[in-house]
Amino acid sequence: MFDVVIKNANLPDGREGIDIAIRGGRIAEVGPGIAAEAGETIDATGRLVSPPFVDPHFHMDATLSLGLPRMNVSGTLLEGIALWGELRPTLTREALVERALRYCDLAVSQGLLAIRSHVDTSDPKLVTAEALIEVREKVAPYIDLQLVAFPQDGYYRAEGGVEALNRALDMGLDIVGGIPHFERTMAEGAASVAALCRIAADRGLPVDMHCDETDDPMSRHIETLAAETVRFGLKGRVAGSHLTSMHSMDNYYVSKLIPLMAEAEINVIPNPLINIMLQGRHDSYPKRRGMTRVRELMEAGLNVSFGHDCVMDPWYSMGSGDMLEVGHMAIHVVQMAGIEDKKKIFDALTVNSAKTMGLKDYGLEKGCNADLVILQARDPIEALRLKANRLLVMRRGKVVARAAPRVSELRLEGRPAAVDAAEYAPLRPGKA
Ligand code: FE2
Repeated sequence: MFDVVIKNANLPDGREGIDIAIRGGRIAEVGPGIAAEAGETIDATGRLVSPPFVDPHFHMDATLSLGLPRMNVSGTLLEGIALWGELRPTLTREALVERALRYCDLAVSQGLLAIRSHVDTSDPKLVTAEALIEVREKVAPYIDLQLVAFPQDGYYRAEGGVEALNRALDMGLDIVGGIPHFERTMAEGAASVAALCRIAADRGLPVDMHCDETDDPMSRHIETLAAETVRFGLKGRVAGSHLTSMHSMDNYYVSKLIPLMAEAEINVIPNPLINIMLQGRHDSYPKRRGMTRVRELMEAGLNVSFGHDCVMDPWYSMGSGDMLEVGHMAIHVVQMAGIEDKKKIFDALTVNSAKTMGLKDYGLEKGCNADLVILQARDPIEALRLKANRLLVMRRGKVVARAAPRVSELRLEGRPAAVDAAEYAPLRPGKA
């Protein structure tokens, strides 16, 4: 006897007509034609069932603050940082918690059940850290929330930055952050990378830095980050977020850099929506894309996962908590248009990001947590193309969100009565 059986699912690896049996909040069996009785049976009707989406790079202390205290007129990264500096002293714990909880509601509805959020530690009052620690506890039943101590104004550049970051870690933030390209000089940036990696090694924590979020090809802090990762024995525990300068670097230099990153097992986290919006701003035409070298990094065996970064905050007025929107943008910006390419992009929103975050028991194999999403699409490529509706979201075997299928009623003589966009795919290769 199972608690729930999901019948007739398509899985991201291409298997079709699969049943998933759940007991005690875990996946008890996966395979075709599971016959045993179940408390509840859910028919997936040949739709894609995926493990939940995972966002490895977000700013939950800033989300949904758009327009406070004013809009970002130029729409640039630097005005965004300045604007956040105006908003920060006015933040209250209550408002931070309320906005973060609202975002988490949206996330759950989008099948997004694990998020790594940077938390600005620049204001020594650390109201951001206090609030997000409260949120981490509150949402634990439905979202795995990891918190990065993030010195937004610079670890060395901001007055009291060193002390505040360490205090935030003492309070219980999970990960050591950094922003070396925003320190006063390249040398101070490199010194901050070394100091922060030492802190991580001493405290036994992972590292996730905003690294080289610039078009400056000489911004090479990722090289230092990889070297310090090896030196401090942090292999596999370190993430480099953004890495946009790699787009503009000299190819010869990159031919040495990528193997160094692979040696250090750096987790790479590009943020396609934000990178395409904010980079290349000093260019006239042609304009650079400002996206790190995703295809080359994947081919070198590095773990690449995509982050949403921002939703309606001083840096980015768009966004919807939909990781498929992130993947959709990635396909275009990175020009990964092949069939296998697109499957890799889907993985970068799910299994790769789960690996970046070190999530345990993630996936659709027997024994994993019964966390999953039923999408209004037949396969990962269709899900990306349509930014497919989430029909059902499950956490530990319980339904936490449900949506009616998106179907339009059609009033055209001699034509079908309804349109479900997910039914309008051309015939797939090898399928009848
Ligand atoms: Fe960020």
